[in-house]
Amino acid sequence: MTNREWHLVSRPVGWPKPEDFALVETPVPTPGEGQVLVRNKYLSVDPYMRGRMSAAKSYAAPYELGKVMQGGAVGEVIASNAEGIETGDHVLHFFGWREYGVLDAKNAVKVDPEAAPLSTYLGVLGMTGLTAYAGLLRTASFKEGDIVFVSGAAGAVGSQVGQLAKLMGASRVIGSAGSDDKVKLLVEEYGFDAAFNYKSGSVSEQLRAAAPDGIDVYFDNVGGDHLEAAIGSLRQGGRIAVCGMISVYNNTEPAPGPRNLARLIQTRGRIEGFLVGDHYDLQQEFVQKVGPWVASGELKYRETVVEGIENTLEAFLGVLRGDNIGKMIVKL
Ligand SMILES: NC(=O)c1ccc[n+]([C@@H]2O[C@H](COP(=O)([O-])OP(=O)(O)OC[C@H]3O[C@@H](n4cnc5c(N)ncnc54)[C@H](OP(=O)(O)O)[C@@H]3O)[C@@H](O)[C@H]2O)c1
Repeated sequence: MTNREWHLVSRPVGWPKPEDFALVETPVPTPGEGQVLVRNKYLSVDPYMRGRMSAAKSYAAPYELGKVMQGGAVGEVIASNAEGIETGDHVLHFFGWREYGVLDAKNAVKVDPEAAPLSTYLGVLGMTGLTAYAGLLRTASFKEGDIVFVSGAAGAVGSQVGQLAKLMGASRVIGSAGSDDKVKLLVEEYGFDAAFNYKSGSVSEQLRAAAPDGIDVYFDNVGGDHLEAAIGSLRQGGRIAVCGMISVYNNTEPAPGPRNLARLIQTRGRIEGFLVGDHYDLQQEFVQKVGPWVASGELKYRETVVEGIENTLEAFLGVLRGDNIGKMIVKL
C-alpha cells in the first residue's frame, strides 16, 4: 500500500507558491507497540499553518523542510497495537496532510461518528469551535447585553463567535466578511443584526454605520484596518480579543499598527491575545453547552469541502484567499 503526504520543500516568502510544496509517495508505515495505523478521512487546513511554514520562532515549531507537515485530522484506525483502541475506531489526531499515519495511542482521541458527523470534530465541535468559545467568553469576558463585532465572520471561528454571542444574549452582533454573498449569509442565516463587506469601503465608516452606539467586544480574526476601526468604535470598558490577524500572514514587511491606541486610555479598553491551546480546560464545558445548540440547529454551521489529498494545498490557499464559507475541510 502506498501513502501520499505533503512535504514543505522551501519556506514561502509572501504568498505560498505550489513550488514550496511536494506531494510525496511513501510506503504505508507499520504501527509499533502502543501505536495505531490510521487512514485519514478528513483533514483540517487552517490559517495558523502559514505561520508554521516560516522559520520564525513562534508558539508552534516551524514545519521541517523535506518532512511531512502536520495538522488536525480525523481518521479510521485500520491496525492497532494499542490497548483501548480497536480497528474500526475513529480518532482525532494531529497527523494530517497525509493519507495514512502511524501515531502513539496517547496522541489519538476517540470520536464517535454516530454522535456527530466526523468533520465537525475539526470545526464546529473541534478546535475552531473551542477557539470561538474560549476567545469570546474568557478573553473578551463577554456578558449579556454586550454589542459584539467579529471580523472573518463567515469563516469557521467568526461564524461561531457571532452566533454564540446572539445565543448568549448579546444586544447586537455585527460581522464583516469579504463578499456580498457572505454578508447576506451572516444576516439571513446566522442571525447577525448587521454585516458589511470590508472590500466595499472604509471599515471604520461601515462599522460606525452598523454599530452607531459603539461596541463592547471586538473579536479580531483579521488585524490591520479592522483592528483600528474596532478601537475607534470601542465603548467604555470595551474588550478586544485578538484571535488572529490573517490580513498580515503573507506580509513581507511588518504591517503598520493601529494609529488610535490612545483611545484605550479614555475607554479603559483592553486588548488581549489568546491561543486556543491554553484553554482546553474549557473543552468539556464547551461541548456540553454548544453540542446541543449544534444538534438542534440553533447554532448553524457550514463547511467548504474539497475532495482528494492532491487538492489539500489548494484548499489551504483557498482559506487565505477567502474561498471558504465556514470550516475548510479536505475529504479523502
Ligand atoms: N488564537 C488561536 O488559538 C486561533 C485558533 C484558530 C484560528 N485562529 C485565527 O482565527 C482566524 C480565523 O480562522 P479560521 O480557521 O476560522 O479561518 P476562516 O475564517 O474559516 O478562514 C479565513 C478567512 O479569512 C478571511 N480573510 C483572508 N484574508 C483576509 C484579509 N486580508 N482581510 C480580512 N479577511 C481575510 C477570508 O474570508 P473573507 O472572504 O471574509 O475575506 C477567509 O475565509 C485566523 O486569523 C486564524 O489564524 C486563531
